[in-house]
Amino acid sequence: MDQKKTKKIFIETYGCQMNFSDSEIVASVLSGHGYTTTEDIFLADIILVNTCSIRDNAEQRVKKRLQHFRSMKKKNPGLIIGLLGCMADRLKTLFLEEEQLLDIIAGPDAYRDLPRLLEQVESGQRGVNTLLSMEETYADITPVRLAGNGVSAFISIMRGCENFCSYCVVPSTRGKERSREADTIVQETKMLFEQGYREVTLLGQNVNSYKWDEGDQTISFASLLGRIAEVNPLLRIRFATSHPKDISDDLLKTIAAHPNICKAIHLPVQSGSSRVLNLMNRKYTREEYMERVESIRRIIPGCAISTDIITGFCGETEEDHKETISLMKWARFDYAFMFKYSERPMTLAAKSLKDDIPDAVKERRLTEVIDLQQTLSFKSNQQDLNRVFEVLIEGDSKRSGEHFMGRNSQNKVAVFPKTNAKPGEYLKVKINSFTSATLLGAVI
Ligand code: SAH
Ligand code: SF4
Ligand code: F3S
Repeated sequence: MDQKKTKKIFIETYGCQMNFSDSEIVASVLSGHGYTTTEDIFLADIILVNTCSIRDNAEQRVKKRLQHFRSMKKKNPGLIIGLLGCMADRLKTLFLEEEQLLDIIAGPDAYRDLPRLLEQVESGQRGVNTLLSMEETYADITPVRLAGNGVSAFISIMRGCENFCSYCVVPSTRGKERSREADTIVQETKMLFEQGYREVTLLGQNVNSYKWDEGDQTISFASLLGRIAEVNPLLRIRFATSHPKDISDDLLKTIAAHPNICKAIHLPVQSGSSRVLNLMNRKYTREEYMERVESIRRIIPGCAISTDIITGFCGETEEDHKETISLMKWARFDYAFMFKYSERPMTLAAKSLKDDIPDAVKERRLTEVIDLQQTLSFKSNQQDLNRVFEVLIEGDSKRSGEHFMGRNSQNKVAVFPKTNAKPGEYLKVKINSFTSATLLGAVI
């Protein structure tokens, strides 16, 4: 009989939603092998850090955390520390040889191998696997939902990316693009609904290129979305991220046709200048992006549009920057994630373009972009005043136990006084006040 006591794992996750979804796969893989997760780091026998490489500051944050784990390990030499995710391959030599801190290093496609890597560590060796795979999608693994609200869950529908935007590290950290078998996605959705979940977010770096061959039929992202929407009308569906170069009218029509597919599209523009977009290898122009926004507004009235913007990319002139500002005003984005350009090793830009915009200029342009978005978000919320939205309750508001927080279809957070309803139920909420980040209202 196996006398080993169940070991406790603490997983700390950085980066995008896909990484959070991966941590749930890690928890699932290990729970089948006598491990369990804990939310208390001080109870952990094993600490796994799931890392992100997207910008330099993301990596710096992880490095600082590792210093902290080093001091924990000094006090408790039996503590096992593992580094997972997008930093794994790039930093494995550095950390293993120079820092002597990590027991395990596993890349995004190596999580099935974690039980073996842990065994290696138990026998006194280090466990390292950063191989990328052509086909791994973890399709058969049912994720263990970590620290969620029991109402909304992420489902990874594809992995990797081959768009090679020149600034982006993802194609080298996550490898070849591959889609997950459609049936397993539908099954996972059904199971989540039965467990009480009422919202799923389908994840991929470029969900529009989802493709699964089933017999003589090819399932596109639009048809997958349609299938998921039919699981139950009470289940909301979101997805991220859409690449502007291939978000089709067909997809927009599918979204419009299903009330439970949320009316919110995240459509990262990155820059408003066609010249910069070309340097970024985004494969669309300013005009083509605008045409897509017009199609969204025409086909899905009332659809929220959010975006990502990078300031100070290689060679960005003041004129280019102004074009970003004018595009933002034109598009009236409801929400945006904004970053200053951070050169990443191994990317096309690092190899062939000069990171020539001084940091102070990147910073100043970023501030201008953030200030403008603040105004746009405020205006967007102002338009919702006195409107009634169907809100899915996610739980208590962060600020007050007497208020619920939930989201409307447009992905805006609404906060309102509690009723007898429970998380997972829908309520009609009339908006009576707002900030640039939140709608405030009351149930009607
Ligand atoms: N797949 C998504 C984005 C993934 S990364 C897409 O294609 O849009 C999330 C965001 O991080 C990007 O949209 C971009 O705005 C930002 N980003 C990526 N690489 C960056 C870099 N090197 N410097 C600054 N921001 C970056
Ligand atoms: Fe990176 Fe571009 Fe792929 Fe998005 S589409 S992950 S920005 S390479
Ligand atoms: Fe995500 Fe960061 Fe990797 S954004 S894909 S965890 S580099």
